[in-house]
Amino acid sequence: MIHNEEALKQLEYIELLKEIVKEKEDELKRKLTCQVTTFGCQMNARDSEKLLGILLDAGFVETEEDDADFVIYNTCTVRDNANQRVYGRLGALKSHKKKNKNMKIALCGCMTQEPSVVEKLKASYSFVDLIFGTHNIFAFAEYCVRMYSENKQIVEVWDKTDKIVEELPVARKYSFKSGINIMFGCNNFCTYCIVPYVRGRERSRRSDEIVAEIENLVKDGVVEVMLLGQNVNSYGNGLDNEVSFPELLKKVEKIEGLERIRFMTSHPKDLSDELIKVMAESKKICRHIHLPLQSGSSEVLRRMNRRYTKEHYLELVDKIRAAMPDIAITTDIIVGFPGETYEDVLETVDVIKKAQFDNAFTFIYSKRTGTPAAAMEDQVDEETVKKHFDLVLSTVQEMARTRTRRFEGREVTVLCEGINEQDDSYLDGRMSENTIVHFKGDKSLIGTLKKVKLTDFHGFYYDGEIVD
Ligand code: SAH
Ligand code: SF4
Ligand code: F3S
Repeated sequence: MIHNEEALKQLEYIELLKEIVKEKEDELKRKLTCQVTTFGCQMNARDSEKLLGILLDAGFVETEEDDADFVIYNTCTVRDNANQRVYGRLGALKSHKKKNKNMKIALCGCMTQEPSVVEKLKASYSFVDLIFGTHNIFAFAEYCVRMYSENKQIVEVWDKTDKIVEELPVARKYSFKSGINIMFGCNNFCTYCIVPYVRGRERSRRSDEIVAEIENLVKDGVVEVMLLGQNVNSYGNGLDNEVSFPELLKKVEKIEGLERIRFMTSHPKDLSDELIKVMAESKKICRHIHLPLQSGSSEVLRRMNRRYTKEHYLELVDKIRAAMPDIAITTDIIVGFPGETYEDVLETVDVIKKAQFDNAFTFIYSKRTGTPAAAMEDQVDEETVKKHFDLVLSTVQEMARTRTRRFEGREVTVLCEGINEQDDSYLDGRMSENTIVHFKGDKSLIGTLKKVKLTDFHGFYYDGEIVD
């Protein structure tokens, strides 16, 4: 049963879109193709599954080709290179569109929430048919209907919303695992970060709705879920009578048939002892936590508005490891934040060595217009950033190699996720700790959990053999 009025309205638009697609099919004597491309994080990827769900429901067939009848880019703007990739790809689409006069192009996601981007698209990318934002993605079907009936560029970007509209069609990328939004937006305003501006204020979904969605997914064959939010540790804030994140995890743990639970991302400032306890006692929560450090220098952390210190971060790592000795801890690091000195970078290197990260994503600081850090003095010059980045990256890589080796020779449980790209008699599986294992196996095993013995270590992944 659909509870939400807005969802009901959108389902009616999907019906209208079906009619439009059918008419076009009859005219062209073929199916209409669509392509949805994600440029951003897991949350964007989840949104893309909703976009594709609606398009498939309306009668489109999915294609990887760039000359599809409908191409939609779900964009990211967290760093400038994500934006540049979008502009580059749009250039190529323009020539495809000249050849296929039925082609429609749409842009949504975090980039379109920036007024300067919309101005640029209006002025120089008039061949883009539809532009909408993150807050009104639920109205996609409605905008598609308008796009096919109005012959002009449609721009529908909202600057906020209090609506949470679920219950629309979703086309999952994997049949056996799925992301679930537990909250939207962010209230933290780290000074370098644009996410709070493009995703709006933090809003949590009700826990009973989350649990009901997961129960439905499990009925549909899902064995692993990833609970998604910019800061899952503050889940439930602002909702009356609601549960905390550890309590939500306990509810999810009870869902029968669900085998694995992951979550992303944990902000160190809000990580509670209760969460560590619930994780340690759980049979389903994976032994992996992504805990973005950003910098090892307490002074840089202060100017980033991260609201923890180097010492507090290392204490957290100690507590987590004391409760779960084998857990994999991964992180994000930014190099080149305004005012960052070589001494600050050495502090980051020190934390990498002490925390013994299993892996880390290392990013070069990207200046985002409108954020406090963009206006800070002492932006670090490119050459210095490059030197610092190389130092951090090599430390991370060496650490990841040393850490991941600890599993060699062990028997572990993996979720069989897909056929190996290099050799189709092999499968790729994922350990609870998130490490990938390649092993001989048949595709009928995809989506099941298997015991595998880890035989050869290859730097960041293993070869293994099924043992049962
Ligand atoms: N909410 C998550 C992070 C989401 S963005 C958290 O707070 O942990 C993912 C990562 O992108 C961040 O952890 C950060 O390392 C990086 N990032 C964000 N803004 C950036 C910027 N302006 N330049 C470089 N990296 C950035
Ligand atoms: Fe950005 Fe900080 Fe929010 Fe993460 S917590 S999304 S880094 S503002
Ligand atoms: Fe990018 Fe938006 Fe995610 S800016 S990282 S896609 S929330």
